[in-house]
Amino acid sequence: MFAKFFLVIVLVQLACAQQPFDVLLEFNSNFSTLAIQTENEITELYHFNADMVREFNRELLLELGRMVPEMREADSSFQQQIAAADGVDDECREYVQELRELFLLFQNWDIQDCAYFAHEDLEDDSINRFLPYAITFLSENTRSITQVVESFTRNNAVTNLDTFVEELDGEWEYYQTLAVSFGDFLFDEILAHADVADRVYLELVECRETAVNLQQSDQEYIMSYLDTNCEQ
Ligand SMILES: *[C@@H]1O[C@H](CO)[C@@H](O)[C@H](O)[C@H]1NC(C)=O
Repeated sequence: MFAKFFLVIVLVQLACAQQPFDVLLEFNSNFSTLAIQTENEITELYHFNADMVREFNRELLLELGRMVPEMREADSSFQQQIAAADGVDDECREYVQELRELFLLFQNWDIQDCAYFAHEDLEDDSINRFLPYAITFLSENTRSITQVVESFTRNNAVTNLDTFVEELDGEWEYYQTLAVSFGDFLFDEILAHADVADRVYLELVECRETAVNLQQSDQEYIMSYLDTNCEQ
């Protein structure tokens, strides 16, 4: 008699337990789906970010690349000018060539400086923008996969299912909001690369012009030796 009674109780409990467990499974499946969608979105943004960084680097490198032949050409026509100068004895010509080589060293440093400053800014931007936030977001998003099990540890699913479901509802809203707002945030981070790239590009153009002008004034200075046959 009693055994039958207990059996009925157990069966009723199991039947009731089945229902809350369905809700939990549904939550779990929803959390997983959202986590996968969000992860795919972050991955897409990650590739987009890397593409932007690569493109800006390429453009800056092209700008630096323009600088080298321009200055090299200026130097080779300057060498011809030295060789063709009239009324200059060999000793002076040799001295002027040495001066030219010395100044060429400084001109090389100018190019290196331009590259150095551009690289500093760009590296800082490509490391510290987007990536740290994407990683934080990714780990927070991954946490959502285990959310239901985690909530299980804090809640009593048997006697306080409503509280448990309420908590999961709250978490569900949190992750949905997170997915939208963080996606927007990461996208803005990528767009902000453009501001830095613009600034670095302008600085590089300015740096190049300064280096080219310096080379020109170096050459004018050296030419003044030739004009007087090194008797200054
Ligand atoms: C799970 O997602 C579906 C579809 O978005 C939704 O209708 C349902 O209410 C969600 N379930 C829970 C427990 O939040």
